[in-house]
Amino acid sequence: MSSFCSSFRVSMMLLVLLLASSLMAASAANLDQDFVITWGDGRGKMLNNGQLLMLSLDNVTGSGFESKNQYLFGKFDMQIKLVPGNSAGTVTTFYLSSQGDNHDEIDFEFLGNLSGDPYTLHTNVFSQGKGNREQQFHLWFDPTKDFHTYSVLWNSQQIIFMVDNIPIREFKNRASEGIPYPYNQPMKIYTSLWDAEQWATRGGLIKTNWTEAPFNTYYRNFNGKACVVSSSGVSSCDSRTASANAVSDNSWQTQQLDSKGQKYLRWVQKNYMIYNYCTDYKRFSNGRPRECRRSKSH
Ligand SMILES: *[C@@H]1O[C@H](CO)[C@@H](O)[C@H](O)[C@H]1NC(C)=O
Ligand SMILES: *[C@@H]1O[C@H](CO)[C@@H](O)[C@H](O)[C@H]1NC(C)=O
Repeated sequence: MSSFCSSFRVSMMLLVLLLASSLMAASAANLDQDFVITWGDGRGKMLNNGQLLMLSLDNVTGSGFESKNQYLFGKFDMQIKLVPGNSAGTVTTFYLSSQGDNHDEIDFEFLGNLSGDPYTLHTNVFSQGKGNREQQFHLWFDPTKDFHTYSVLWNSQQIIFMVDNIPIREFKNRASEGIPYPYNQPMKIYTSLWDAEQWATRGGLIKTNWTEAPFNTYYRNFNGKACVVSSSGVSSCDSRTASANAVSDNSWQTQQLDSKGQKYLRWVQKNYMIYNYCTDYKRFSNGRPRECRRSKSH
């Protein structure tokens, strides 16, 4: 298979996605229906009547917002445009997390870089308080030039991370083999822009250049199809309650990668993955985590 063929297919797919995302934009709900700004002393701002959300970071603090609802399984899409230019030391996040001890968490973190050097997309999955499941990627586009869609699909069979609908990572539910999987703790969605110059860029070698502050990240077009858990603990999977603009569609609950999805996943992992805990033999010299080994049932 020539690489021309596969890159042609990717561009066709991107074209289709572009058309799809402009339709979505037409029905975009306001972020203030689903989210509240929770910290940053005014550095986080709803703009254009809530259609756009800006987070800002300067030498005093960063900022962040979170969902009003908590969810137990769902598919969440967010369009994000990252800090341009010299973003070294900055970290932009979009993640799900439960509260309290032994928490569950599903992370997208974007680690900034010097102008012209690539962002690193860092992903992780925590279940019952245990993470250490990092995979990192470079992207096949400049994430500061335009908005791109970052998605988490989380259902009872697996978690899939997607970038512009292209799967980049899959974490399967292998609870039956004793591997903890997030399945019973409701999670909220969080975002933030903060300073992590001690470790973010080339392991902390490159610090934030504060003369370029404030740094800004933009979010828009949230789309959520999910089971919402109310404060009394009752779960409702009517997708219309997950975000105001979602069409009622529960196909996400059984969605998994088809053979085309598997192919894209392999393409990304082969060409853009820069770190995989599963192949970090030095780190796990006493044996790799069990989910990194082949499933016995397949
Ligand atoms: C933070 O930045 C402002 C504006 O550039 C500057 O006036 C101030 O001295 C800085 N504060 C610190 C603690 O560096
Ligand atoms: C920054 O750029 C360097 C050099 O290309 C690259 O090795 C690194 O993965 C990039 N990302 C971060 C967060 O350091």
